Amino acid sequence: MYKREKSTALFEKAKTFFPGGVNSPVRAFRSVGGVPLFIKKGGGSRIWDADDNEYIDYCGSWGPLILGHANDEVLKKVSEVMQNGTSFGAPTELENELAELILSNHKYIEKLRFVSSGTEAVMSAIRLARGYTKRNKILKFEGCFHGHADSVLVKAGSGLVTFGNTSSAGIPQSFVNETLVVSLDSEAAVEQAFKEHGKDIACIIIEPIPANNGLLLQRKEFLQFLRDICTKHGSLLLFDEVISGFRVGFEGAAGYYNIKPDIMTFGKIIGGGFPVGMYASSKEIMSSISPEGNVYQAGTLSGNPVAMAAGIAQLTACLKPNFYTQLEEKTKMLVSGIEQQFKSHGIKFKTFQIGSIFWFSFSDMKHVRKAEDISADGIKQFNELYHKLHEHGIYFGPSGYEVGFVCAAHTKEDIERTISVFGDVLKN
Ligand SMILES: Cc1ncc(COP(=O)(O)O)c(C=O)c1O
Repeated sequence: MYKREKSTALFEKAKTFFPGGVNSPVRAFRSVGGVPLFIKKGGGSRIWDADDNEYIDYCGSWGPLILGHANDEVLKKVSEVMQNGTSFGAPTELENELAELILSNHKYIEKLRFVSSGTEAVMSAIRLARGYTKRNKILKFEGCFHGHADSVLVKAGSGLVTFGNTSSAGIPQSFVNETLVVSLDSEAAVEQAFKEHGKDIACIIIEPIPANNGLLLQRKEFLQFLRDICTKHGSLLLFDEVISGFRVGFEGAAGYYNIKPDIMTFGKIIGGGFPVGMYASSKEIMSSISPEGNVYQAGTLSGNPVAMAAGIAQLTACLKPNFYTQLEEKTKMLVSGIEQQFKSHGIKFKTFQIGSIFWFSFSDMKHVRKAEDISADGIKQFNELYHKLHEHGIYFGPSGYEVGFVCAAHTKEDIERTISVFGDVLKN
């Protein structure tokens, strides 16, 4: 019998400590309803909750765990390094080692800086873009998420180009006035923004593979258009690769589409499950960063040795031959099997997939490229399935807007089992 008693009790207690019982909002299950799972342990492709239910996990801590949970190589390297202390606030050789590993395998960047989260990476990269160009405005897209720094916590108002509305209390309208918001997939909207504000746009920021609001795969021509319009107007193109970086290939979306952005931000996979972010660019642009230049950015735990160790172990594994091909093959097998189950039950359904990222769209639209195109009805259908999948031992992130991830630890048997669970759940 499937139980949720211990998670329920832990959640009640957590509510007395934390707003909504959690330390990051989506974990509270508000989107899918019910009580969040409290996780006790993970191993490979599996997680176990406080009630000892076992799940095949397709959330992977929201993307960082590309090798799976408690990976031997990551744990070994981390344990070795930890014996010598956990933080010094001074440079260590491990930072050089991880930087060299990244830069020598990533042709789009020349210099980088480690920080402690994706949010911090984006916040710093935007400051860099503004400092370097001496311009104030940034242009972002409705449906792209870039962490919770003030200037990107902004959603579109109405109209082709809008000064965004804040999507959180506590952000002064004057900050938000520096953020222009347009629809994805619309050259016309971007052109209009440049017509009106071109001389003051420091950067366009985009998730080149938008994966926080469904999986809104863009046309390559649209991304190339962004590259060209930035070049034309002296603005910088900022690819936020916190999810796509090291995920759809070692060179992320830049490599996948073969488009060179000016600045890139990363997080998740580089930390191997520890808090790490990174922003990177050319030597010239990075020379604006303090102490070389006058754009200030700092961090007590930046380049933390334990986190660097995890990153070194994880990225070394990612560089093994065929690593990404194998991941993609497994992902294709998963999504085509699940699609088949829906098809045989006559339910409108399509999965969008790139590399080892996938998203369920409960519609038969061939392309979903804009946030506005996601059907609210589809999200309801996801919610109905969600808890039934738990009862059969399958775990996805708790929101129909979130993508899933396949990791190196998922086996063919995991995939087959997942597909057959979908069949059982749809039958009932
Ligand atoms: C594209 C993107 N940028 C930035 C962030 C923020 O990263 P973090 O949660 O590490 O602050 C996220 C988080 O999911 C993200 O997906």
